Amino acid sequence: MNKNISIAIDGPAAAGKSTVAKIIAQKLSYLYIDTGAMYRALTWKALQKGIDPEDGEQLFQLLKETSIELKQGKNHQKVFVDGQDVTEEIRLPEVTNSVSTVSKHASIREEMVRRQQQFAVNGGVVMDGRDIGTNVLPKAEVKIFLRAGVKERAKRRYLENVKKGIPADYDQLVEEILKRDELDSNREVAPLKKAEDAIEIDTTDLSIDQVVDQMMKYIKERKK
Ligand code: CDP
Ligand code: CDP
Repeated sequence: MNKNISIAIDGPAAAGKSTVAKIIAQKLSYLYIDTGAMYRALTWKALQKGIDPEDGEQLFQLLKETSIELKQGKNHQKVFVDGQDVTEEIRLPEVTNSVSTVSKHASIREEMVRRQQQFAVNGGVVMDGRDIGTNVLPKAEVKIFLRAGVKERAKRRYLENVKKGIPADYDQLVEEILKRDELDSNREVAPLKKAEDAIEIDTTDLSIDQVVDQMMKYIKERKK
């Protein structure tokens, strides 16, 4: 029952991955790794430097000289690039709109995956992203693929923005999510895809607590 396992959570934008991953990591006292934040961090730095998100070679050089740290706070995780706190900046629309282009390059993914795997060497990790179950942690004891309808996902992002006092346009959010789904699902390297041995949960009509309960039941079984 006390085995330290690896938990891989994948799915499209706003399916609820990071929300439930954080809660589960806290319940199990595991490390939580938000791999999307790593791709966002590189994208943020590339935009600062005026590097074209299509330019894989320049991005790779940049990544090699960039430190990306995920630091666990009490209630949330902070993201640092070269020692600078960029937790808020990496969620800005300009980063969101370029991140899927930055993350399509094979060399970038290879280096990111190498860094992500280092976090998981001792197990006891909850990692969320797009290719965790298929590529980063193919031997994870627990693989969960979260889905939700696009209207519900856009509504969730809309409400998040309203809460933060950021102006948001629902229709634009639908479009942005659909575009990212399409880029992430159709790229050549490690596309967004459910691993064959992952269980699938459709969160469209479920509360966060209901999703967490379902996942914890499954995790307890797998930890035995
Ligand atoms: O939180 P949200 O669902 O908006 O996205 P995210 O998890 O922060 O990921 C941002 C983007 O990074 C995704 O749309 C993917 O393009 C990329 N990503 C990836 O390619 N592979 C991962 N393991 C995680 C994220
Ligand atoms: O990480 P990912 O992009 O998959 O999604 P998220 O950022 O965890 O969740 C998006 C939003 O949906 C958050 O504001 C959650 O509070 C909300 N949510 C929800 O309303 N119902 C769920 N079952 C899961 C998340």
